[in-house]
Amino acid sequence: MSDHHEMTPTTVKDFLLALLGGLAAPLLAIILIVGLVVSIQARQVDDEAADAGDKAVRARIQSVGTSVAVDPNKPHVDMTGEQVYTDICSACHGSGALGSPKFKDTAAWGPRIAQGYDTLLLHALKGFAGQKGKMPARGGEPDLTDLEVARAMVYMTNAGGAKFEAVLKKEVEPTAAQLAHGKTVYAENCATCHDTGMTGAQKLTDPAWAGLIKQGKDYLYGAAINGTLGGPAKGGNVKLTDADTTAAVDYMVNEAKAALAKK
Ligand code: HEC
Ligand code: HEC
Repeated sequence: MSDHHEMTPTTVKDFLLALLGGLAAPLLAIILIVGLVVSIQARQVDDEAADAGDKAVRARIQSVGTSVAVDPNKPHVDMTGEQVYTDICSACHGSGALGSPKFKDTAAWGPRIAQGYDTLLLHALKGFAGQKGKMPARGGEPDLTDLEVARAMVYMTNAGGAKFEAVLKKEVEPTAAQLAHGKTVYAENCATCHDTGMTGAQKLTDPAWAGLIKQGKDYLYGAAINGTLGGPAKGGNVKLTDADTTAAVDYMVNEAKAALAKK
C-alpha cells in the first residue's frame, strides 16, 4: 500500500488549518455584513428619532398660538414667517443646501427678488425647478397654509433685501347675477355628472371640495376649461365659452363652500 491514504499528524494539522482558513474568510464576511446591517438600522433609528424630534418641535411651535388640548373645531392659527422659516425652510435655505439661495445672502436673493412678489409666492407654493436645484412645493410641507408660505417667503426675501408684505391675492367673489348664470350653465352642462357623482365627478356636497378649493380658482377654471383626467373639457360641450365655464365653476365652488360650512 502506498502512504497517501495514511494521514500523518502533519497532514491532519494542515487539513485543520486549511479548514479554518477556508472558514475564516466567509466568517469575516458574515461579521462585516451583520455589522453593516446593524449600523444601517441604528442610523434609521437615528433618523426616526430626528423625525420625532422635528415633529415635537413643530407641535411646540404650533401650540404657541393654539390651545394645548388639540381641538379640531378650533380655528387654525397661522404660524409667523419666522416660525415657518425656522421649522421648515431653514432646512435648506439656512445653509444653501441643494442649491437654494441662502438666508441673508443678498447677492443670491437679489435677482430672485427682482422677479416680484407674485412669482416668488407662486414658486414657493407650487414648487420650482430652477438652474440651481429643485424647490419643493410649500417647502415639502403640504399642510402649510398659503398665508404661512407667504409669510415665510416674505421673512426670507426681506432678510435678503426685499421690502414685501405678506398678502394673498383676494379672489374676487362672484356677484349674485354671475352665480345665477353659473347655475344655469351648470344645470345644462355639468349636473349630469356632478349631481350624481357619475364617473368619479365630485358632487357639490363632496368633502373633497375643501382640497380643490385650496388649489385656487385659477386651477379650477383651468381644470374645467381644459379638462382633467376624468373630467371632460367644458363638460364635453365644445360650444361653451370660457366665461360660461368659469361661471359654472364659481357656482359649484359657492355651493361646495355652503355644503362644507354646514358640516
Ligand atoms: C428641500 C430644500 C428646500 C426647502 C425645505 C425649501 N426650499 Fe425654497 N428653494 C430650494 C431650492 C433648491 C431653491 C432654488 C431653485 C433654483 O432656482 O434653482 C429654492 C428657491 C426658493 C425661492 C426662490 C424662487 C425663485 O423664483 O427664485 C423661494 C421664494 C423659496 N425657495 C421659498 C421657500 C420657502 C418659503 C420655504 C419654506 C416654506 C422653502 N423655500 C423651503 C430648496 C428648498
Ligand atoms: C361626463 C361627466 C362630467 C361632466 C359633464 C362634467 N364633469 Fe367636471 N368632472 C368630472 C369628473 C369625473 C371629475 C373628476 C376628475 C378628476 O378626479 O381628475 C371632474 C372634475 C371637475 C372639477 C375639479 C377638477 C379636479 O381636479 O378634479 C371641476 C372644477 C369641474 N369638473 C368642472 C366642471 C364644469 C364646470 C362642468 C360643466 C361645464 C363639468 N365639470 C362637467 C366629470 C364631468
